[in-house]
Amino acid sequence: MRKCLLLLLLVSLGIQSFSQLPKETPEQKQKRMQWWTDARFGMFIHWGLYSLPSRHEWVKNAERLTNADYQKYFDNFNPDLFDPHEWAKMAKAAGMKYAVITTKHHEGFCLFDSKYTDYKAPNTPANRDLLKEWVEAFRAEGLKVGFYYSLIDWHHPDFTIDVNHPQRVNSDAEYDKLNKGKNMKVYQEYLKSQIRELLTNYGEVSMLWLDFSYPGKHGKGHEDWDSENLLKMVRKLQPGIIVNDRLDLKNVEGGWDFTTPEQFKVAKWPEENGVRVPWETCQTFSGSWGYYRDETSWKDTKQLLELLIESVSKGGNLLLNVGPTSRGVFDERAQSRLKSMGKWMKFNSRSIYGCTQAPDEYSKPDNCLLTYNPKTKRLYVHLLDYPLQNFTLPGYEGKVKYAQFLHDGSEIKISHPEGAWGNTGNKQGDINLSLPVLKPDIEIPVIELILN
Ligand code: GLC
Repeated sequence: MRKCLLLLLLVSLGIQSFSQLPKETPEQKQKRMQWWTDARFGMFIHWGLYSLPSRHEWVKNAERLTNADYQKYFDNFNPDLFDPHEWAKMAKAAGMKYAVITTKHHEGFCLFDSKYTDYKAPNTPANRDLLKEWVEAFRAEGLKVGFYYSLIDWHHPDFTIDVNHPQRVNSDAEYDKLNKGKNMKVYQEYLKSQIRELLTNYGEVSMLWLDFSYPGKHGKGHEDWDSENLLKMVRKLQPGIIVNDRLDLKNVEGGWDFTTPEQFKVAKWPEENGVRVPWETCQTFSGSWGYYRDETSWKDTKQLLELLIESVSKGGNLLLNVGPTSRGVFDERAQSRLKSMGKWMKFNSRSIYGCTQAPDEYSKPDNCLLTYNPKTKRLYVHLLDYPLQNFTLPGYEGKVKYAQFLHDGSEIKISHPEGAWGNTGNKQGDINLSLPVLKPDIEIPVIELILN
């Protein structure tokens, strides 16, 4: 009896400490997220059974495949060329500072060794915990590691059929019939148990990327995931972790750390209630996240660099995705793009790391993107369309001490319109930079301005 009471007391204490999401001041939050805000550039990795059909990670949904139809991908998953050290080296050489991998995607397949399912890499011909190797390799290259985990699960027997499910139907009656006997409470526990494993068995996890909510009729949201309690557990297990905003807790204080515009460029720095919020856009090289053999709509290096610079110019991060093949490699198209981004980053990353949106007093010249480092107080002008010799910085008179190309540290001469440049169209208050006629051999040249 006494033992029982003690147990009860312990349990209720446990519940007490679990009852609220941790409170933080804006300064504390900013500090917790500082490494990520400074990093600006990360790698997303979508790797799972869908790499075998090679026609989108939603293939099970699009083609309405059953678990039985999909089984052949599990049986044949054999990434014999998987070398996570190679992946990590490529990410690092591209200039990326962190990486987020799909530990489980919507298909339900786990790359890691989970106690709670048989649907996992160790039971395929891969025969081992692939996540463990991945984590170790990325850490060894000095990259921060993050886990994507799909809230959605098209394989788990208790996950109810909904509008996004491969076996979706057309009427309430049909849903009722199909979902009879399924118990989302059981699935909730599964979610929690697996996330507990992920945040317990792999050392420090810097980021958790949960995906995604679609509340509404025959949809799923925070009540289905038990989001608040899930997040409390996450924060308790890994207090420093950074969590995205797809738990359907947008209106809950502490319910998310950053917002996630997917596959589009934001018009301006995203805000919530008039306040600028941390954000990261996730983007693909082509259209699909998982490896897609026949897709040809790949962005070129310039477009990709623009995505990165543009994000930083509005105070955000870029998480750029690679979908490795089922053999476990980045295909040629991904490799060559990473390489050429790395070539640019090698000489220009100073305009990316630690940078953010420029203060309003610096107006943006045509065809340019500006970034600004608040610590060094340097301004970076990215020339998307290389001008012919005379380049005007409107209203910059008195603001610039020195100008140079970032890639080679070579001086760019500053002149003032009142003197030599009568016919340049410059106005009082503008300054003029004299650029070489020949565009430097850099995809997007950057001018570094050392300010007064
Ligand atoms: C979407 C998709 C998913 C992808 C994710 C990345 O939510 O469902 O396939 O993993 O976006 O942001």
